[in-house]
Amino acid sequence: MFRINRCVCMGRTFEELKELAAANGWDFNELRKKTGCGGGCGLCVPYVRIMLRNGQTEFYELIREEVRTPLRGDGHRAGRTQVRTNEACAG
Ligand code: FES
Repeated sequence: MFRINRCVCMGRTFEELKELAAANGWDFNELRKKTGCGGGCGLCVPYVRIMLRNGQTEFYELIREEVRTPLRGDGHRAGRTQVRTNEACAG
């Protein structure tokens, strides 16, 4: 079993990020801007979002995040939806 507990790109644990967000009142965008977490490969993004919602800092399953292309004027997507996997985040 693997454990996912950090942003690998920035070398910060979700526990550390949780404390920073709580101490400074940061939402996801502010946390990403101040720490860089989520702004590298982006694979930690779904975990950080969950962490900010419910405080969970360790994960034992891969969470996929759909990356959707913007809607065109006719309401259809301009490209294919991509699915990111988070294997690089396993710590
Ligand atoms: S940006 Fe967080 S793991 Fe890459």
